[in-house]
Amino acid sequence: MLISWSPSLFFLLFLLILSMLLLKNKKKRGRMGFKLPPSPPKLPIIGNLHQMGNLPHQSLQNLSKKHGPILLLRLGSIETLVVSSAEAAKDVLKTHDLDCCSRSPSPGPKRLSYNYLDVIFSPYGDYWKEMKALFISELVSMKRVKSFAYAREAEVDKLINTLSQNSHTPVNLNEKLYGLVDGIIGTVAFGKIYGTNQFKSEEFYNVLNEAMEMLASFAAEDFFPSVGRLVDVLTGLKARREKSFRGLDAFFESVVEQHLDPTRPKPEHENLVDVLIKLLKKQSASFSFTKDHVKGILLDTFLGGINTSSVTILWAMSELIKNPRAMKKVQIEIRSSVGKKGKVEAEDVAKLKYLKMVVKETFRLHPPAPLLVPHEAVQQCRIGGFDVFPKTRIFVNVWAIGRDPNSWENPNEFYPERFEGNDIDFKGSNYELLPFGAGRRICPGLAMGTTNVEYALANLLYWFDWELPRGMRREDISMEEEGGLVCQRKTPLCLVPVSHCLQD
Ligand code: HEM
Repeated sequence: MLISWSPSLFFLLFLLILSMLLLKNKKKRGRMGFKLPPSPPKLPIIGNLHQMGNLPHQSLQNLSKKHGPILLLRLGSIETLVVSSAEAAKDVLKTHDLDCCSRSPSPGPKRLSYNYLDVIFSPYGDYWKEMKALFISELVSMKRVKSFAYAREAEVDKLINTLSQNSHTPVNLNEKLYGLVDGIIGTVAFGKIYGTNQFKSEEFYNVLNEAMEMLASFAAEDFFPSVGRLVDVLTGLKARREKSFRGLDAFFESVVEQHLDPTRPKPEHENLVDVLIKLLKKQSASFSFTKDHVKGILLDTFLGGINTSSVTILWAMSELIKNPRAMKKVQIEIRSSVGKKGKVEAEDVAKLKYLKMVVKETFRLHPPAPLLVPHEAVQQCRIGGFDVFPKTRIFVNVWAIGRDPNSWENPNEFYPERFEGNDIDFKGSNYELLPFGAGRRICPGLAMGTTNVEYALANLLYWFDWELPRGMRREDISMEEEGGLVCQRKTPLCLVPVSHCLQD
C-alpha cells in the first residue's frame, strides 16, 4: 500500500524531528559545564555502531589508540563508556565500583524472556546480593571446589584415556576440551548421570547451545530499547528467544522435579542440585528461596563455567605449540616435579610455578570475556577526570589493557617469564590483568575456573608430547579470533598427541 504524503503526515514528521532536536538540545544544555570523554564522530541514528565490527574489542582498541583510553560512544541510542587503560579500569572497578556495578536488563533476562533472574545479568540490588552470596557459598567457595574434585579428576582421566588410545592421531582439541569442561560442570551440577544414557544430554546440549547463541546474537533491543523490541518481534528473534528459554526452563524443571522425588536413591556424591534442593526444602537461606532461584543458579553455572575455561585451555595450547621454548620448559617442570607417579594430582599443581605463569600469560593475551560483561552506571561519577552519567553502559576492554604497551613490555609476545619475581595476579587487585573483572562484579567462579584450567593443562602436558599434523608448520597455526559472548579461536586447533610414557 502506498502512503499518501498528506499535509498532516508532513506536519507529524515535522513535529517528530522537532521534538528529537529539542530533546537533544535539552540533554546538551543539561550537560553544560560537565567534562565529557572524547567521542569519535557518529552517524545519525546508529551513532558509532558501524565502528564496532565483528570483533568489538579490537575495533575499540583501535578507536582508543586514536582518541584516548576513555571514550564515550553512542551505540544506537545507548551512551557507552569504553575504558582501555589500567588506571581507568581501576576508577570503574574500584574507586567508583558502587556507582558502576549495575547491569542493564538487556542483554540478559529480556533477551531470553526469563521469568527468573540469574546472577550474571542481574542489576545491582538486594536480589543480586542474595543470589551472589548463595552462589559463592554453595558452589564456588574453595571448600566446594575441592569437594567437586572427583568430577574434575574423572573427566580428565576420561580424556587422557581417549587421547592415549589415539596416540599419533590428529585430534580436534576444540571438541575435546569443550567436552572435558562440559563433563566437569555437568557432573558438578547434575551428578554422575551427566553424559550417560540415563540423562538426556543431547537434548540439554541443544537447548544450552541455542541459549548461548541467542545471548550472543545481535538484538535490536540492546541498542534501541524503545523500538528494538518491535524490530525483534518482526524479525522473529523474540519468538526464537522465547522458544529457547522454554526449552531450557523445561529441562531445568524436569531435573528439579527428579531431585524432589522422595523415592530417588541417595547419590554417592552430592551434586549442586542436591545442595540447592536442600535449601529449598529447609528454606534455610536468609531470603525466600524458590525453584526459580535454583534454575537461575543452574543457568549461571553453565553459561559462566563452560566456554570460559575450555577456551582458556585451548588458547594456552595454541600459544605453547607456537612457542616450543615455553612448551619444553613447562613440560620439564611438570614431569620433573611429578616424576613417574603416573598422574598430576591437585596437590602437585600448587608447586608448578611456571605452569601458573603460562596460565597468567594466556589470560593476559586471551581474556575469554574481552569486554567483561557490560556494566551500567547507577550514579553520576568521574572516571579519569571525565563526567559519567547514570544509565551509561560501560565496557572495560580488558583485552586491550592486557596488550597496552604502557603496562606491558613487548605486549604482543607470549612470554610467561614476565611474571617472574612479581606478584601480579588476576584476582582483581592488579588492574592491568583483569580476565575475571574486579570489585563487586568479579567472577565468583575464579577459583573453580582456574583450578579446572590448571589441572587439565598440567595433565595434558604431562601425559603427551604435542606435535603438528603432518605438513603443517608452526607459522600456519592461525591465532584469529571469533566474536561472541566468549572470544574463541576462529578455526579449530588440531594437534597430534604422542603418549610420553609409551616412549619411555
Ligand atoms: C576461566 C574461567 C572464567 C573466566 C575467565 C570468567 C570470567 C568472568 C568475567 C569476565 C565475568 C564478568 C565480570 C564483570 O562483569 O566485571 C564473570 C562473571 C561471572 N562468572 Fe565467570 N569466568 C570463569 C569461570 C566461571 C565459572 C566456572 C563460573 C561458575 C561455576 C562462573 C560464573 C560467573 C558468574 C555467576 C558471574 C556473574 C557475576 C556477577 O555479575 O556478579 N564463571 N566471569
